[in-house]
Amino acid sequence: MASSSPLCLFLLPLLVAVVTVRAQGQDPFMWVSALRSRGYGVGSLTGDSTGGECPEVCDCPPTFPIAMYCDNRGMTSVPNVPSRMKYVYLQHNQITNVPDDAFANATNLVWLMLHENGILNIGKKAFAKMKNLDRLYLSHNNLTKVPSNLPNSLRDLRLDHNQISKVPPNAFEGMENLTMLLLHDNAIQDVGAALKSLSSLLLLDVSSNKLKKVPESLPDQIHQLYMESNAIDAVPNDFLSHFQQLQYIRMSHNELTDKGIPANTFNVSGLVELDLSFNKLERIPVVNTKLEHLYLQANQIKEFTLGSFCSVV
Ligand SMILES: *[C@@H]1O[C@H](CO)[C@@H](O)[C@H](O)[C@H]1NC(C)=O
Ligand SMILES: *[C@@H]1O[C@H](CO)[C@@H](O)[C@H](O)[C@H]1NC(C)=O
Ligand SMILES: *[C@@H]1O[C@H](CO)[C@@H](O)[C@H](O)[C@H]1NC(C)=O
Ligand SMILES: *[C@@H]1O[C@H](CO)[C@@H](O)[C@H](O)[C@H]1NC(C)=O
Repeated sequence: MASSSPLCLFLLPLLVAVVTVRAQGQDPFMWVSALRSRGYGVGSLTGDSTGGECPEVCDCPPTFPIAMYCDNRGMTSVPNVPSRMKYVYLQHNQITNVPDDAFANATNLVWLMLHENGILNIGKKAFAKMKNLDRLYLSHNNLTKVPSNLPNSLRDLRLDHNQISKVPPNAFEGMENLTMLLLHDNAIQDVGAALKSLSSLLLLDVSSNKLKKVPESLPDQIHQLYMESNAIDAVPNDFLSHFQQLQYIRMSHNELTDKGIPANTFNVSGLVELDLSFNKLERIPVVNTKLEHLYLQANQIKEFTLGSFCSVV
């Protein structure tokens, strides 16, 4: 009978399972929200005895005077952000425009949350002076291109759920510390060589775009690569030979055919999850026996033998 490799144990459930796990949605920084004290909405811009100046519409808790909470207030423009601020929450408003001087004094920002607005335009210099910005969340807006002059200090950049079609070649230049880049649910056809300089990138999500091929110049140390729901019909020769750390590849809902997967492409050690479901494969690709999760449902697989997956002992 079959060996008891993790793949074999997983074999039967995987053929019927439709699993969608996504590293998104939940705000992982709830601890800061927990520090938030309510009831300080009457602060004024001229300063007070509690936590320093604060736009009237926002909360600046005296117990955490470097944070400013302006989320979900129906705001249509960015308020003045005092220079002491490091954590600014502006998500879930109706901001459509972020002019060059919107954050003129806010040069110390570490986190800037601007997701769930209707942002169409961002001035070319809007973020340029932020030398310590670590997280910039611009998800769920109406951007059509990656903003210019993003700070090199970013570690976590979220641009998912916009209408981005243009990724300039220098969009991420110099971002040597960027580890997480979310670009999913946009209209990107090609990322060109824009990812080349991201020497710390661990997670790239470009799913639900219009990609016809696997992005070129992926950083060598990438760990999670999500490309589902695109129009990719092939993977490059030697695709995985460059990526020693790659553990998760999700390519469901593409147009992969047997011809597009060179022999032994996925027969590499290190992979933990390979999702090739909802493609046009007729054969089961050769995979390493240590692979834990292989998804192949909704293809046109014509052969099925246990030997396809399991070494026989
Ligand atoms: C920046 O600070 C100056 C001086 O305190 C103030 O006059 C100006 O309105 C501030 N601008 C913004 C955009 O916060
Ligand atoms: C932004 O896009 C959404 C749909 O994605 C649309 O409903 C909304 O009207 C757009 N907002 C602006 C300001 O264009
Ligand atoms: C990247 O992180 C290191 C270590 O924290 C820091 O010294 C360096 O300045 C950062 N790079 C940029 C471009 O901010
Ligand atoms: C898969 O790779 C292993 C080790 O690199 C090799 O020994 C084996 O022959 C390969 N399997 C197939 C079917 O080519």
